[in-house]
Amino acid sequence: MTHSPDVPQLHRTPTGTAAAFDRGSVGRVVLAYSGGLDTSVGIGWITEATGAEVVAVAVDVGQGGEDLETIRQRALDCGAVEAYVADAREEFADEYCLPTLQAGALYMDQYPLVSAISRPLIVKHLATAAREHGASVVAHGCTGKGNDQVRFEAGIGALAPDLTCIAPVRDLALTRDRAIEFATARELPIETTKKNPFSIDANVWGRAIETGFLEDVWNGPTEDVYAYTSDPSVARDPDEVTVTFERGVPVAIDGEAVSVLQAVETMNRRAGAQGVGRIDMVEDRLVGIKAREVYEAPGAMALMAAHGQLENLTLEREQARFKRGVRQRWSELVYDGLWFSPLKGSLDAFIASTQEHVTGEIRMTLHGGRAVVTGRRSEHSLYDFALATYDTGDTFDQSLARGFVDLWSLPAKTAARRDARVGQR
Ligand code: ARG
Repeated sequence: MTHSPDVPQLHRTPTGTAAAFDRGSVGRVVLAYSGGLDTSVGIGWITEATGAEVVAVAVDVGQGGEDLETIRQRALDCGAVEAYVADAREEFADEYCLPTLQAGALYMDQYPLVSAISRPLIVKHLATAAREHGASVVAHGCTGKGNDQVRFEAGIGALAPDLTCIAPVRDLALTRDRAIEFATARELPIETTKKNPFSIDANVWGRAIETGFLEDVWNGPTEDVYAYTSDPSVARDPDEVTVTFERGVPVAIDGEAVSVLQAVETMNRRAGAQGVGRIDMVEDRLVGIKAREVYEAPGAMALMAAHGQLENLTLEREQARFKRGVRQRWSELVYDGLWFSPLKGSLDAFIASTQEHVTGEIRMTLHGGRAVVTGRRSEHSLYDFALATYDTGDTFDQSLARGFVDLWSLPAKTAARRDARVGQR
């Protein structure tokens, strides 16, 4: 173990996690590994500063890009004692994307929580790996400015409160230049010349793009920002699709049976080709910063549109109204890193109970950046043609309406009379 002057001493940091960095106090460290510059350099930094062995864990949530075996090998080449890749795509779709779809969750009414739902899954795999490898410390590559540090550490705290978290990039202010210096000095097999124009986080539920020229909130995103969606302004034929749901789960597309993962992937492809699901917003981060974020989530947004319309057909009115409030609270909890929390668990139970009758078919047209529902049918429908029709066959007794309206407006009418009597102060 050699120390050169350019290697920062990890235990120098005055943060609360400093103790975890003391040499000799750390056994093994499990690192959430992405294959990128920061986490690759992180392996060496942690090893050299603490003497601990690093186990690198990469989780496949459908992010695409580099071959995962290449990523695994890179971790080993960068000094990890062990490295593995967990294929968690089905698990991610079934246990993280599906609840988000059923909640209809959109943070700030816009963002389908793409990154926010992948972190708890990664945390679960990290905690398992820590147990398997006898590690007492978990490391991640987040900065101190974002939400993801909170999601990792609050998640670990909830699943494995005995583990300590460290974040070399944040706790040591590891800049890109210092990381490159380190990688060059150690001859690490990692690309250091190519500067990515954006910071990107992707998975099967969508893609998040930030930084670079997007930090000027007046700058419009250019086409090269997007990878899951085509330009919606380019003329092409509309695509009509039918999605079948069973108890809130998408089970078939155009009559062909699909898993949740396949449903999201298929809709990513078809809705993405029509430019559906582009989002450009200024977002309130948990750490208090407003940030410009661009997202694309074609499958997620198209499936949410379909699922939401099927709920409109099958949920009783008061249940549906209450669920809208739950949706917002659920979105905020998940955004804020509280996936594994008691309130989130309670809301999950409510949401699950609302899905009992969300069974049926939704037809929609994907075109020009929009997923528009044009038809719905369900054995569980609460839509009663005889009650709704203005034509013959009407079974609605209109004579009941008059008394209903009188009583409904009675409290406000009484208050208005009082105000007229005593005057308004
Ligand atoms: N702002 C989003 C969130 O907090 C996305 C963050 C994703 N990270 C990235 N490198 N683009 O969920």
